Amino acid sequence: MERAKALKRIKELRELIHYHNRRYYQLDDPEISDAQYDLLMKELVELEEQFPDIDRTDSPTRRVGAAPLDKFSTVSHLSPMLSLANAFTEEEISEFDGRVKRLLHAEEEFHYVAEPKIDGVAVNLIYENGSFVVGATRGDGFTGEDVTQNLRTVHALPLRMAASGERVPDRIEIRGEVYLETAAFRKLNKKRLEQREAAFANPRNAAAGSLRQLDSRITARRPLNIFCYGIGKVTGWTFHGQWEILRCLSRWGFNVNPDAKRVRGVGGCIEYYRQLTELREKLPYEIDGVVIKVDDLALQSRLGTITRSPRWALAVKFAPTQATTVVREIIVNVGRTGVLTPVAVMEPVQVGGVTVSRATLHNEDEIRKKDVRAGDTVIIQRAGDVIPEVVKVIESKRTGKEKPFRMPERCPECGSRVVRLEGEAAHRCIDLACPAQVRENIKHFVSRGAMDIDGLGDRIVTQLLEARLIEDPSDLYTLSKEKLLALDRFAEKSAQNLMDALVQSKHPPLEKFLFALGIRHVGEHVAKILVKEFGSLEHISAATAEELSAIEGIGPTIAESIAGFFREPHNRKIIAKLLKSGVRPQERMVKAGAPLAGKTFVFTGGFENFSRDGAKDFVESLGGNVSSSVTKKTDYVVAGADPGSKHDRAVKLGLPILDEAAFLKLVAKAREK
Ligand code: IVH
Repeated sequence: MERAKALKRIKELRELIHYHNRRYYQLDDPEISDAQYDLLMKELVELEEQFPDIDRTDSPTRRVGAAPLDKFSTVSHLSPMLSLANAFTEEEISEFDGRVKRLLHAEEEFHYVAEPKIDGVAVNLIYENGSFVVGATRGDGFTGEDVTQNLRTVHALPLRMAASGERVPDRIEIRGEVYLETAAFRKLNKKRLEQREAAFANPRNAAAGSLRQLDSRITARRPLNIFCYGIGKVTGWTFHGQWEILRCLSRWGFNVNPDAKRVRGVGGCIEYYRQLTELREKLPYEIDGVVIKVDDLALQSRLGTITRSPRWALAVKFAPTQATTVVREIIVNVGRTGVLTPVAVMEPVQVGGVTVSRATLHNEDEIRKKDVRAGDTVIIQRAGDVIPEVVKVIESKRTGKEKPFRMPERCPECGSRVVRLEGEAAHRCIDLACPAQVRENIKHFVSRGAMDIDGLGDRIVTQLLEARLIEDPSDLYTLSKEKLLALDRFAEKSAQNLMDALVQSKHPPLEKFLFALGIRHVGEHVAKILVKEFGSLEHISAATAEELSAIEGIGPTIAESIAGFFREPHNRKIIAKLLKSGVRPQERMVKAGAPLAGKTFVFTGGFENFSRDGAKDFVESLGGNVSSSVTKKTDYVVAGADPGSKHDRAVKLGLPILDEAAFLKLVAKAREK
């Protein structure tokens, strides 16, 4: 190809690839397939190789990483990267607002921009005439390390800001936080442990380690991401407010956090802090607090800076989700299916606002990999409702007295033999009558997603077993008030309540009943598939493994487990007994053409005419789904009284929002179909 033509095509390919990168990495909405994308990239690489003198500064081909460096050079930031004053309570937010008002001799409420505080690595990006030229870590605030090559591999970072032709500042410093999503962090650590490399303690360390790789080809393999939240020195452009800066950055193609908000006064700040405390558990990345900034830049400059932090901004931190503690001993729990789970019993510590004294160690391989021993000092972590887990051992704290773990050869509950089946990570107790298995099975049967029998907690299940009033789930329905009253801790009222709850539980949806049976590999999802396909308990229990594995979503292992369960005479006896005591699973069919098929609803706030569970049943009976988080794929958000952050998210994403009346109307209409 002649040079002029090649140059034109190279320019075009770069534009196209930039555009598709943005669709893929930032908007999460690709327009072309991976294969088509690879073709564009291949063509560009080849053309650039043919014409090596054509400038590659903003070429997307530079994202794959370059030859390793000996060391990073240092770069001076054009304006210093400040840090933030920290606060931990709502009261301190009020004090901050009070200080701002006092310093400005003002009484009116100011606008603030409130943003999630991303727990990652701060970077400074310099763009000249729209091209990314230098990227550095924060360092000491004045000079940092030149990690330009590594930053080029971060797909969400535009190598060229804005579409060509659009006006941009002559030169601008853009500030942001490089981070790793929690799922990517877990995956990375898993791989490292498998390869006998040390695990990273948290996503921030993993992001820092990845960004500070001398070999940028390694960085390129880590799915780093970035949120931009501010600017440093700018020439050839004037901004007036922080909110305007965020909007501009987003328009220029930078990733700006979608949960940032412009709020009014101290009330708005506190409300935001509360909302984010809740949202935190649902985000795919870690935040360690919120940052509050006075919006107006003129006011910011009047407020100024003391030592290293500005007077116009405040970081309000959450309680940390990681903590360091000591493992007292490692015990073994026996679960419903006989699986032995090692558990670390630790000195109690506060993590994310709750006291934790146990963390799961999953299985023997996991303990080996992390090399956790009784007596070790460990970092533990708690995220959302997930059971706390041990992230890593602090080896420097070892004294030599720590005791390595050994999986017992006999079940700690019943003394039967323990086996590890081929291809499984778990050890199991092989005795089906093992009291731990029986107890866990009953606990599962009565639990919320299953038969949902109110007031039958762990303690009462154990008490009923010990009193020999029950041996399997079907015995629950043979209980009577008299039998209960003979037990300790039961009084007239509590006994009556439990009897009522048992009666009320007798007509569960079939999928809940199936789930309650505790068939291996049959979770709530598989149970729903079975009901959709077969419609009745009779058909499901008569299906052969071949018939079952012909269904989408059910593989041979699940199929064999289901068919095997229903073949087992002991299980058939329990089901027969349940049916005889009046348990009648509700068999209802959701057809593929159901009126709300494929529609996803999210409920937020309180409702007058139905409960959340009731609404879920409505929607599901018409073929729709109910989800707990708002995404672009949500079809309707139903907002009741005092809706929370889900409502705000829906507004932001431009989703249809229904009030209670509109929802009922929609359901009524769907039913007529
Ligand atoms: S603004 C002068 N906004 O927190 C203002 N910082 O302790 C400078 N960070 O070094 C920072 N998310 O690494 C700002 N939305 C956000 C942030 C944020 C995370 C980090 C940043 C900074 C540190 C301040």
